[in-house]
Amino acid sequence: MTLNAVEMKNISLKFNEQSILHDINLKIEEKDFMAIIGPNGGGKSTLLKIILGLLTPDTGEVKVFGREPKKARDLMGYLPQSVSFDHDFPINVFDTVLSGIYHGLFKGYSENDRKAVINALKDVEMEKFKDRQISRLSGGQIQRVFIARAIVREPKLLLMDEPMASIDPEMQNSFYQLLSKLKDKMAIVLVSHDVGAVSIHVDKIACLNQRLFYHGPVEDAKEGLEEVYNCPIDLISHGIPHRVLKEH
Ligand SMILES: Nc1ncnc2c1ncn2[C@@H]1O[C@H](COP(=O)(O)OP(=O)(O)OP(=O)(O)O)[C@@H](O)[C@H]1O
Ligand SMILES: [Mg+2]
Repeated sequence: MTLNAVEMKNISLKFNEQSILHDINLKIEEKDFMAIIGPNGGGKSTLLKIILGLLTPDTGEVKVFGREPKKARDLMGYLPQSVSFDHDFPINVFDTVLSGIYHGLFKGYSENDRKAVINALKDVEMEKFKDRQISRLSGGQIQRVFIARAIVREPKLLLMDEPMASIDPEMQNSFYQLLSKLKDKMAIVLVSHDVGAVSIHVDKIACLNQRLFYHGPVEDAKEGLEEVYNCPIDLISHGIPHRVLKEH
C-alpha cells in the first residue's frame, strides 16, 4: 500500500478569532508536483506550516506519510518564504547547505553528507561558489543556496514557499527543469503567484483563499483554463502584479 504524502481532513485554523483556513480537505500523493496559488493572506504559508507541524490546526486531522507531522520532519525539505537570516553572518555556501542535514546534537557529518552537499550545489548551479561567504552573494544566488539546503537530504516531500521570488527568468527555467527531475523521487509542493509558469510546469494545482477552491490535475483544467482559473485569477488579481495577469 502506498501512503499519501499529505492527507488533510477538515482542517480549520483561526488567528485571534479570525478564520484563516476553513475546512480544508487536501490530499497530496507520493509523486505529486503541485502548486498552491491564491491571494496574499490566503493562508498558503500557514498551510505549509501545518504540514510541517510548526502550527497545529484548531480542528481536523493532518497526516504526513501516515504520521503526525512532527514525526515526519525527517521526510520533509522546506524552503520558507522569507528566510530569517543575517546575510552578514560569516558562513560560506558549503556550510549553509550542510546545515540542512541534521543528525542530532553532537553528531558530526560524514563524507556522504559532504558529497550530498556538492550534488545539491551542482543541481542549483552554485558549486563554483561553494567557498564563497553568503554575504558576498546576490539575493537570487542566496535563494539558490537555500533551495540546495532544502533538497540536500533528498526529502520525500519538498515544500517551497515562493522559491522563484528574486530568481531571474533564465534560472527559473532551469529550476523548473531541476524540479521536474526531482519529482520522480519526491512529492513537491510549490507556492507561487506566477499562475502562467506553474500551469506549464506542475501536474496539479490548488487554489487557496481561506477555503480550497480547486485542487486537482492541471490537464483537467486545460479545456477551460479560464474557467477553472476564474477562481484564482479573480482572487489573485488583488495580490499580484498586473504584469503577470496580462500574460493570460
Ligand atoms: N502568527 C500569526 N498571527 C496572527 N495572524 C497571522 C499569523 N501568521 C499569519 N497570520 C495571518 O493569517 C493570514 C494568512 O497568512 P499566510 O502567511 O498564510 O498567507 P499567504 O497566503 O502565505 O500570503 P502571501 O501570498 O502574502 O505570502 C493572513 O491574514 C495573516 O495576516
Ligand atoms: Mg506566504
